[in-house]
Amino acid sequence: MKRILVTGGAGFIGANFVHYLTEHSDAEITVLDALTYAGNLESLRGIDKSRLRVVIGDITDAPLVDELVAVTDAVVHFAAESHNDNSLFDPRPFLDTNVVGTYTLLEAVRRHGVRFHHISTDEVYGDLELEDPARFTESTPYNPSSPYSSTKAASDMLVRAWVRSFGVRATISNCSNNYGPYQHVEKFIPRQITNILHGARPKLYGAGANVRDWIHVSDHSSAVWEILRRGTLGKTYLIGADGEKSNREVLQAILGLMGQDPDAFDTVTDRPGHDLRYGIDSTVLREELGWSPVHRDLAAGLDQTIAWYRENPWWWEGAKAETEDRYLQQAAAQASMGPGTGGDKA
Ligand code: NAD
Ligand code: TYD
Repeated sequence: MKRILVTGGAGFIGANFVHYLTEHSDAEITVLDALTYAGNLESLRGIDKSRLRVVIGDITDAPLVDELVAVTDAVVHFAAESHNDNSLFDPRPFLDTNVVGTYTLLEAVRRHGVRFHHISTDEVYGDLELEDPARFTESTPYNPSSPYSSTKAASDMLVRAWVRSFGVRATISNCSNNYGPYQHVEKFIPRQITNILHGARPKLYGAGANVRDWIHVSDHSSAVWEILRRGTLGKTYLIGADGEKSNREVLQAILGLMGQDPDAFDTVTDRPGHDLRYGIDSTVLREELGWSPVHRDLAAGLDQTIAWYRENPWWWEGAKAETEDRYLQQAAAQASMGPGTGGDKA
């Protein structure tokens, strides 16, 4: 696997994976990225140019995708519209990129017999009850809640169908919530860190009881690299690091690490249809491939992440104001739609 095509390599997890590959392999890497609002070539700064080619283009562009796939040994597919809140206000780009884009890549790898790894999310399984000891496994039924997670579920189903019907050599991984450097300031952890750095109060949706299962992005990268090299074709692997915490706990940990009062945050209107809890059982990945996470201490990982955002305002400042403007517009749209529009759980 000398030549690897990374879609979405200018996004948060894709860029971290490209850094990981340059440190842990001798692969020649091509990044295909449309540079949407979420893509940033600065996230690839410092990478040896002799090993990296960047192509700015769309994964729904079939001729371009075909041309790139024809000269690669493997595709690792990160490109997606990735933010739940955006999907609630404008779902269309999620269908185009997550569904049609994945289809376009699958047709190309099918034509050229290229190995494919599809990056997905635990959100395809819907949510768990807060006090339930159960966690998601590879056999949990799909039950997505949002336009984002439903388009990711659709993309997973396409991959499974292309494996079964056309013999495409593919694997899928469904990972829990990532944190770490280069994450867009729209997402929970960097939004709160950068708010505090700006002297603004963090924003907690609802009561903050919702639980997410946090994993450091470099542990996600190492898991994907193991699956790509040694995973069983046709199989799905769940990636998680036993990092369940409520949003309130995470926010108060950030406030404490940044020397703030633990109650120095605002609670704001909850996200419509907000999934209660995600939790991953990654036994299959650990037992079959011997993978385990390096970052097991969330407070230490948050502290490193805070330091990264503190030291690299040049990377995130440009996106901060427009992101907060977008949140204001979304809040106004939600308020004008009135109660009952937020699809609460049945
Ligand atoms: P991101 O939004 O930070 O990055 C997405 C990247 O894809 C951007 O660089 C963007 O420019 C690019 N892109 C978007 N549409 C494109 C298109 N049509 N053609 C080419 N490039 C396009 O997302 P992320 O958080 O890095 O997530 C990457 C993948 O990991 C996604 O598939 C997501 O579903 C999955 N995932 C994310 C998380 C998480 O916590 N962020 C957890 C599990 C799985
Ligand atoms: P997010 O980072 O958007 O990831 P996801 O929706 O994929 O889980 O949000 C993580 C959690 O944080 C989620 O429960 C929503 C919540 N949240 C807030 O409480 N405040 C915020 O400002 C944001 C962006 C998210």
